Amino acid sequence: MAVHALTGFSVVSLLSFGYLSWNWTNPNQVEYEPVLDGKDKGSPLTPRKPPHIIFILTDDQGFHDVGYHGSDIRTPTLDKLAAEGVKLENYYIQPICTPSRSQLITGRYQIHTGLQHSIIRPRQPNCLPLDQVTLPQKLQEAGYATHMVGKWHLGFYKRECLPTRRGFDTYFGSLTGSVDYYTYDSCDGPGMCGYDLHEGEGVAWGRGGKYSTHLYTQRVRKILAAHDPRRPVFIFLSFQAVHTPLQSPKEYLHQYRDVANVARRRYAAMVSVVDEAVRNVTYALRKYGFYRDSVLVFSTDNGGQPFAGGSNWPLRGRKGTYWEGGIRGVGFVHSPLLRRRRRVSRALVHITDWYPTLVALAGATCRPATGWTGVHPLRRLEAADGRPGLRRLDPAADAGRLPGSWWDLERRTQAARKSVWLFNVTGDPYERYDQADQRPDVVRELLARLAHYNRTAIPVRYPAEDPRANPN
Ligand SMILES: *[C@@H]1O[C@H](CO)[C@@H](O)[C@H](O)[C@H]1NC(C)=O
Ligand SMILES: *[C@@H]1O[C@H](CO)[C@@H](O)[C@H](O)[C@H]1NC(C)=O
Ligand SMILES: *[C@@H]1O[C@H](CO)[C@@H](O)[C@H](O)[C@H]1NC(C)=O
Ligand SMILES: *[C@@H]1O[C@H](CO)[C@@H](O)[C@H](O)[C@H]1NC(C)=O
Repeated sequence: MAVHALTGFSVVSLLSFGYLSWNWTNPNQVEYEPVLDGKDKGSPLTPRKPPHIIFILTDDQGFHDVGYHGSDIRTPTLDKLAAEGVKLENYYIQPICTPSRSQLITGRYQIHTGLQHSIIRPRQPNCLPLDQVTLPQKLQEAGYATHMVGKWHLGFYKRECLPTRRGFDTYFGSLTGSVDYYTYDSCDGPGMCGYDLHEGEGVAWGRGGKYSTHLYTQRVRKILAAHDPRRPVFIFLSFQAVHTPLQSPKEYLHQYRDVANVARRRYAAMVSVVDEAVRNVTYALRKYGFYRDSVLVFSTDNGGQPFAGGSNWPLRGRKGTYWEGGIRGVGFVHSPLLRRRRRVSRALVHITDWYPTLVALAGATCRPATGWTGVHPLRRLEAADGRPGLRRLDPAADAGRLPGSWWDLERRTQAARKSVWLFNVTGDPYERYDQADQRPDVVRELLARLAHYNRTAIPVRYPAEDPRANPN
């Protein structure tokens, strides 16, 4: 069993960019190979030219919700970009929003930031711990201009928590989840609503009315139009799409008129808007002179929610569960800088891996931040954050207080209240054959591994809601 699953430095290696590769015997040291033409003998820690990095994150897009996975949803742009780049077909994320986002932006597993319990609720005085050095902060250090557009969902209860204090030069978007795609109203229960469209550290009054996928894409175009391509830029485009509420402009619905399920029809249209948005972003990259030196990463944040139009078929489970359908995501990299393009990678990649990967691409070093135990982030990822391959299923405990009784469904359909399953995900990716009884040795080994990781966990940060947070 690949108990010592290596995360953290697998991505760069598998992507094998033109000027950069990892030294496997000495993985903490990033080695820069001579560029393709062999002339560049620059400093080993400075790539010839740090690439522009465009990270596009979608919300709740399921495994089956992209054309190239055989979906009924048409995504010609994503299909094309993925086909020309590297499709990540063994790509994992967290089962819900805040944990995935926090891991992407800190390179640290949720049990090490205290965000393992659930999402950050709008009224909770909670945010990404301030001692964490974020990905955009590292990129700023490396000389990048950094911009975030879209959904944050990593807390905002005080100024220090805001995106502009966590590494982004500029920010435009919504700080909470599930906001209205047109009005930007965000409700946390009946009568508990506020307007959530923000620019920098202020409220973007009067900027609503336009569908968010269009609004955010337009913003990215403006950033690119105003930026000098000679300076590297990092843009984190974090769509609220395709999360509920299921809202789509009418023009995109027509092509799905034959889809009988109304939720699926709307959802499909929303995915198609995202596809068009990505087309527009790549168009702007070319138009303003960024494309040739750019790396575009596309990723979902967690599995799809079939109760709200999403699909993870043929994987079992959904958002909020630890079945494959909750944690196996759509992901690909597209870049003219890739040395080997047009391929599918089955290497194990986790959303946590982007941090060290992109920091390395930027030519920055992953020095331990204050408060860490002095272990290099890459080592730490390997030692503490390797994916144990165990399927412990306890959605009720892990999903926390998300709506309804959905979380409990899979559990209640089990005859016994079982809490340990064992699946060979390679041979049985749909998790049909529980092997826990046949392989107690493996179960023991993996439970011991889980206990090991569990001992490294810090206490959950999940403060009570503050009544003063009522937007009224
Ligand atoms: C990788 O690192 C090791 C240890 O520092 C070194 O001996 C070896 O020469 C390096 N390999 C390459 C290909 O640079
Ligand atoms: C993409 O660009 C076209 C042309 O400017 C525009 O009509 C369309 O609304 C844009 N779509 C999105 C999703 O931004
Ligand atoms: C898991 O499945 C793969 C593919 O069928 C097989 O090669 C491997 O031996 C299996 N592993 C175990 C431990 O059964
Ligand atoms: C993880 O640690 C907590 C707190 O020590 C303990 O209650 C729990 O049983 C542990 N879980 C596992 C799976 O080891």
